[in-house]
Amino acid sequence: MSVSSQSSASQSPSAQSPSSPSSPSSPSSSSSAVVTELRAAGCVFAEDEARLLLDAARDHAELAAMVGRRVAGQPLEHVLGWAEFRGLRIAVDAGVFVPRRRTEFLVEQAAVLARPGAVVVDLCCGSGALGAALGAAVDRIELYAADIDPAAVRCARRNVAGVGGRVYEGDLYGPFPGVLRGRVDVLLANVPYVPTEEVGLLPAEARIHEARVALDGGADGLDVLRRVTADAARWLAPGGRLLFETSERQVPYALEAVADGGLVPRSVSDEERYATVVIGTRSVTGTRSVIGTRSV
Ligand SMILES: C[S@@+](CC[C@H](N)C(=O)[O-])C[C@H]1O[C@@H](n2cnc3c(N)ncnc32)[C@H](O)[C@@H]1O
Repeated sequence: MSVSSQSSASQSPSAQSPSSPSSPSSPSSSSSAVVTELRAAGCVFAEDEARLLLDAARDHAELAAMVGRRVAGQPLEHVLGWAEFRGLRIAVDAGVFVPRRRTEFLVEQAAVLARPGAVVVDLCCGSGALGAALGAAVDRIELYAADIDPAAVRCARRNVAGVGGRVYEGDLYGPFPGVLRGRVDVLLANVPYVPTEEVGLLPAEARIHEARVALDGGADGLDVLRRVTADAARWLAPGGRLLFETSERQVPYALEAVADGGLVPRSVSDEERYATVVIGTRSVTGTRSVIGTRSV
């Protein structure tokens, strides 16, 4: 897969300024100094980042500390403590995977398929951004999320509280209550999918500041995914859908894994966002159809 997939932690910040505690005094002089410092450190969106940091810091000491962390290479989202995702402010603690803007495409696909009241599982939920965003888009979803990383679980609990989501800690489906089996309408699974030997090629923001378990998908990047697809049919309701992101290069293997798991696979991509989503449907009748691919 391309190393740009699941790679860039700091993304172009939103032009919309978030509401925040009061900024330090003399914002304009601070602003130009911060922009200069960020630009010298190689921040491409120095003006936007400076504005966000100035908004977030409560005083000069805090601003200096935040700028220092950013200049030292921490992802902007970890410095701020949040990432923007589908217009939501998602809490992201140090080490936790920063939800990527391209993954909004996965949520958009899920939102088309989920009916109000749908039972939704967010596997490998990280910060919980996907479930939180789907809960904001679709009325009354019953949301269950899980992650193996305790730091991610703590974040996700904060982020899905507003939509009444429950977050479990553990390996893939392991921590979910058995009564969920056969009831899941939408199974989201943005699992790690970077091939092991490409993890070292990722930008430092991801490689150093995000947990390796959030990135490393095994030899071909599909190890975790294959475990997800192997068991998905047991958890999905008839007609339920599994949705996950993958790289373009991995699509044929991902479709095969979905079909091997007894689901009807198709893929959809958004060229502008370099996003590819595979959707596997549990058939109501038990028959399978051909693999399909389309672009939007
Ligand atoms: C690529 S990140 C995606 C996080 C989130 N879904 C998102 O899109 O922002 C993958 C997540 O999978 C979790 N993870 C990796 N292996 C796992 C496993 N075996 N069981 C549960 N979670 C796992 C990592 O801790 C990480 O939070």
